[in-house]
Amino acid sequence: MCGIFGYIGQSDASSIIHKGLKRLEYRGYDSWGISIIKDGEIKTIKDIGHLPEKIKKKELFSNIGIGHTRWATHGGITVTNAHPHFSKDKSFVIAQNGIVENYLLLKGRLESKGYTFETEVDTEVIVKLAEDGIKKGQGVKEALINAFKKLDGRNTIVLLDLKNQKIYSIRNGSPLILGVKDDEIFLASDPLAFNQFTKDIVEINNGELVEIEKGNFKIYDIERCKYIDRKKRREKLLNIDVDKGKYDHFMIKEIVQQQHTILRATEYTEKELAPLIERLEKARTVYTIGAGTSGFAADQIAYYLRKISLKNTFSIKSYETESYLDIMKKGDVVIALSQSGETADTIEAVEMFKEKEVYIATVINMPGSTLSRISDIFFMSKAGSEICVASTKVFTSQISFGYLVAKSIIGEFNTAKKELSILSSNLENFFTERNLKDIKSIAKLLIKKEHFFILGKGQNFHIAQEGALKIKEISYKHFEGFAAGELKHGVIALIEKGTPVVSIISKDSNSKDLISSTFEVKARGALTIGIGDKIFEDEKCFDHFITVADSNELKAISNVIPFQLISYYLAKELGNNIDKPRNLAKSVTVK
Ligand code: F6R
Repeated sequence: MCGIFGYIGQSDASSIIHKGLKRLEYRGYDSWGISIIKDGEIKTIKDIGHLPEKIKKKELFSNIGIGHTRWATHGGITVTNAHPHFSKDKSFVIAQNGIVENYLLLKGRLESKGYTFETEVDTEVIVKLAEDGIKKGQGVKEALINAFKKLDGRNTIVLLDLKNQKIYSIRNGSPLILGVKDDEIFLASDPLAFNQFTKDIVEINNGELVEIEKGNFKIYDIERCKYIDRKKRREKLLNIDVDKGKYDHFMIKEIVQQQHTILRATEYTEKELAPLIERLEKARTVYTIGAGTSGFAADQIAYYLRKISLKNTFSIKSYETESYLDIMKKGDVVIALSQSGETADTIEAVEMFKEKEVYIATVINMPGSTLSRISDIFFMSKAGSEICVASTKVFTSQISFGYLVAKSIIGEFNTAKKELSILSSNLENFFTERNLKDIKSIAKLLIKKEHFFILGKGQNFHIAQEGALKIKEISYKHFEGFAAGELKHGVIALIEKGTPVVSIISKDSNSKDLISSTFEVKARGALTIGIGDKIFEDEKCFDHFITVADSNELKAISNVIPFQLISYYLAKELGNNIDKPRNLAKSVTVK
């Protein structure tokens, strides 16, 4: 999604902004722009597509500027629509993250006042509203605040002011954070963007404006028109690893890291978990929530809470909360999962739940993110930076954490730790040349096919859904994950000669059903692939079989790894952009 970066200091702003925007690339974008102040004017460069490796420095040398990566929502992917956007008199530029939900209404009003629009983007109404305020005699800051107050939706905006040589930014929804290093000030949507320069951060909350000038920043509450004295703090967890190392892509690096990340995600002590466990023990109902891959993690954790801890648990998709709100009661517990901690759907749901006085626990991977700040308690997934847009290691970190929590409720914290360490060493042994070669050859078999089905049941139902999502995202092939039980009720109509069907099979009470479902599709000509425990590798129903590490109660985690690898190898064969798949954003900060 869109990214904002700003800089005021001693160094070359354009090259610092370029570096910052490069760090924001992983969020997903389709065009970019940089504006700096030089020789008494604002100079802007913009383009569609990806940022070049270098930008022409000389022309753009300056100590103050802003940058933006755009993920198109309103208006096509064009240079004109790319941010920042100039005011008519060129005295300021504005870039925005978010969506102005009432922009048509505002645009109509401005047009009736004689304003004309050159772009298709909603941002332009913010520019014109600010111009209108300035025309009426307001200062830039006041005009920006007044413009901002007219906007509906979650928006974060940044303005570069030529006359006062300042940057102003207002946050509502989309994330915003300051980095401070002596008299240099950085502003970004995500602390990863300036982590290479400083780890001293200042959080900006919703409804706050930050005014930045050389060596100084001031924060104001825009509703109460009050100055806020907020000190910087050192964010230790900002140690991020943004190198591919020996790997061709971040995705494969992150897949292989899982043997370690599942342990880091669960290195909490019983004492650290205690406040959450006590709430869960007392709760009448527990809700887990997330979107996309984090939504499937929420489903899997709900499964563990029901099956292991016997808790009455519902899993809710962040964007489908409506029917649950009225049944939530004080004392219920919500566990919200999110890699970024900035997903608009999840934040909005949590904000609504808070009004119900339920206890909110979040599990996030990005330090300092919004969800961690609005929850009663938060836990870090500690997976390290996940750069590939498709989530892999954070998913397994989230569900490993959920498993530890579920076991702790029944007093089996130590057993859970033991199981997790067995899983970790099993995974270490899984990433062998031989296994990777076998999975690569299965991926090759799938290259010419278009539609695929994945069957799972019980502990593997949500793994089937997550496996399908992973493959869709990177290979752009149509994979669907189903409950094996659903097959006879409709899905089987889609099976024809050669249709690939992947069955996830574990040594549990569902294995017989999986075998008979696989026979049924095989009888109709499907190409059958099994993923699961070794004891099933010779079952006649499977044309191919991928044996996973047998991990007792944690089989579901072992079973998702082959899907991540199939996704990777399939996309590689197809020549797709693996780490930045089309149309997808890493941090989905708009609804
Ligand atoms: C899929 C993926 C997305 C995210 C979803 C929620 O690989 O990454 O489906 O899981 O957009 O994002 P977070 O976890 O940041 O809330």
